[in-house]
Amino acid sequence: MDIVDPAINDYLVAHSEPADDVLRDLAEETLRELGGRARMQISHDEGELLTMLVRLTGARQAVEVGTFTGYSSICIARGLAEGGRLLACDVSGEWTEVAQRYWAEAGVADRIELRLAPAAETLAALPAEPSIDFAFVDADKESYPTYYEELVSRLRPGGLVLLDNVLLGGRIFDDGEQGERAVAMRAVNDRVAADDRVDVVMLPLRDGVTVARRR
Ligand SMILES: C[S@@+](CC[C@H](N)C(=O)[O-])C[C@H]1O[C@@H](n2cnc3c(N)ncnc32)[C@H](O)[C@@H]1O
Repeated sequence: MDIVDPAINDYLVAHSEPADDVLRDLAEETLRELGGRARMQISHDEGELLTMLVRLTGARQAVEVGTFTGYSSICIARGLAEGGRLLACDVSGEWTEVAQRYWAEAGVADRIELRLAPAAETLAALPAEPSIDFAFVDADKESYPTYYEELVSRLRPGGLVLLDNVLLGGRIFDDGEQGERAVAMRAVNDRVAADDRVDVVMLPLRDGVTVARRR
């Protein structure tokens, strides 16, 4: 299911900041080497939104859950304030090897720390006090409720947590769809909407993006 009509989507992308050579090369290599798995990569307009929101919040401490070949991490790292750091969480050494090459090409490798471990463990081991300015979640959907709770409790006031794919290609609206991913996504969407700790807006960007701001 296309949430946004493809023709409208093309128009939106054509009137947003274009991708530079590094991001274009990364998207091409990911498609060439990984075929259909390249669909896991965020879209370029979403990447521009990440960079803009990181810049707007003046973020210095960022966390990404789900790095893959590095597109979103480059977009986040580029927006960080001077001295800012991104903790990139993934479980795949193979895919993040590609990411590390492109971090170097993009000139952001020194701002990113890669943690290869289940992200729930990585997040649970972070200091409990609020220290995160910006977080982006784009990994195994079953764990979104866990990721949200671990991140929102560590967000500084004014900090953002973004959740990707919150519409699950439209499966979220299909009551007959009771798989683990859909059940978890409905649960986290309801949880965020009712959470008094945050202001929230859900955007119809690509597969749906939730932006929650810690009060
Ligand atoms: C949709 S892709 C991320 C795409 C990426 N944001 C981009 O812009 O290219 C999901 C990633 O989550 C990772 N992942 C899956 N389960 C995970 C887990 N339990 N902990 C950490 N990462 C996980 C996968 O290895 C994969 O690289």
